Amino acid sequence: MSDEQDTVAVTVLDGDDEHTIEVERGHILRDALLEHGFEVYGTVSKHANCGGRGLCATCTVEVDPAPEPEHWHDAAAVRFGYPRLSCCLTVTEPMTVRLLDKHVWGQVLPRRQ
Ligand code: FES
Repeated sequence: MSDEQDTVAVTVLDGDDEHTIEVERGHILRDALLEHGFEVYGTVSKHANCGGRGLCATCTVEVDPAPEPEHWHDAAAVRFGYPRLSCCLTVTEPMTVRLLDKHVWGQVLPRRQ
């Protein structure tokens, strides 16, 4: 398999900005976003979070297409219509990710107009 097939294009929407990053297939979305300098946390949860264990619910993003949940906490987010836990999403196919404006802990703020 070539290098090109080992990576997946992920489009990241950050406010009005759009970026495309190449992510190793099978990589965790949260880790890929952080490695590329994107912020998935609030100002405090950036320092105090569960480290990607699917427990704190502060790493949420919107994703399209939305993969099937694999983690119980992410499945609950789907069930109740909340944003997805980026630490519980494995990148296997191209996707678009919208970063969310967050308050201190990770509460999602209303979308900028
Ligand atoms: S980092 Fe805690 S739920 Fe994702």
